[in-house]
Amino acid sequence: MRLTGLHLLLTYQCTFECDHCFVWGSPWQSGTMTLEQIRYILREAEECGSIESIYFEGGEPFLYYPVLLKGVQEAARRGFGAGIVSNAYWATTLEDALEWLGPFQGLIQDLSVSSDLYHYDETLSKQAQNACDAAEELGIAVSVLSIAQPEDGEAAAASGVLPPGESGVMYRGRAAATLAARAPKRPWSTFTECPHEDLREPGRVHLDPLGNVHICQGISLGNIFQTSLGEICETYSPDLHRIAGPLLAGGPSELARRYGVPHEDTYADACHFCYEVRLALRERFPAILGPDQMYGVPEE
Ligand SMILES: C[S@@+](CC[C@H](N)C(=O)[O-])C[C@H]1O[C@@H](n2cnc3c(N)ncnc32)[C@H](O)[C@@H]1O
Ligand code: SF4
Repeated sequence: MRLTGLHLLLTYQCTFECDHCFVWGSPWQSGTMTLEQIRYILREAEECGSIESIYFEGGEPFLYYPVLLKGVQEAARRGFGAGIVSNAYWATTLEDALEWLGPFQGLIQDLSVSSDLYHYDETLSKQAQNACDAAEELGIAVSVLSIAQPEDGEAAAASGVLPPGESGVMYRGRAAATLAARAPKRPWSTFTECPHEDLREPGRVHLDPLGNVHICQGISLGNIFQTSLGEICETYSPDLHRIAGPLLAGGPSELARRYGVPHEDTYADACHFCYEVRLALRERFPAILGPDQMYGVPEE
């Protein structure tokens, strides 16, 4: 497996608790990367040799502003392209947004600002607009990410990295629990492939504060704090992976069939079916199907 991008979930915490959030971001979540962990991850990324870009997201990365800034500075110093994905809660006015963003000038190649009817009560929030205006003034490339409502059949869900503009919701994480009921359904047997992630050659993975290397939110390939990233990449064998293997062989339908997981007749999309089957398999594959944060299990 050859990786070109790492997406760091700087924190699982968030200012918001969006209905569609596939990482269950929330003020009540736990798990935040330390500077020491970020430095370790960047060293691992360097040793990997193929990684070009590091994205900082979450949760809401601006919640840990000094750590975010230092992480971005470190990433840029080591020659990685850096980007940030944010809900722009901090962009109260244009003047304030310029203060928040100014230190990132010349350091990040992309600012992705999320705005839609999950994040705010208007499609393009004032905060998102202020963040975009400030980024443009500072010469930072910026785009708005927007996720459609379940009833909007027009918007196709993204595959891989979320594209600028509007895309459809993927019914995994909190979206499976809160939104799937509003979506049109299809028979379970039609979900015979994973349409959103390249499970064989993902290109980019998500890293969380516990060290999990996610090929999709909640499906781990290993722990970077226990095994080097290079070794995780070298030893990843897609067809033999206990979850990715069946998904590659026949999508969520095959995952359910392979492990004898009872299922409903219909689901909103492949992610919805996959997420429900994975929930049922968590006890069997605890090292792969975690952490609790990704499955909406609050800390005791
Ligand atoms: C998880 S958020 C983290 C960064 C930041 N808090 C934000 O909202 O931009 C990253 C992006 O994932 C998108 N996202 C979250 N859950 C999703 C889902 N179920 N389907 C599609 N996109 C989703 C969000 O809308 C956001 O653009
Ligand atoms: S989508 Fe972003 S803003 Fe919304 S809860 Fe998740 S992490 Fe927070």
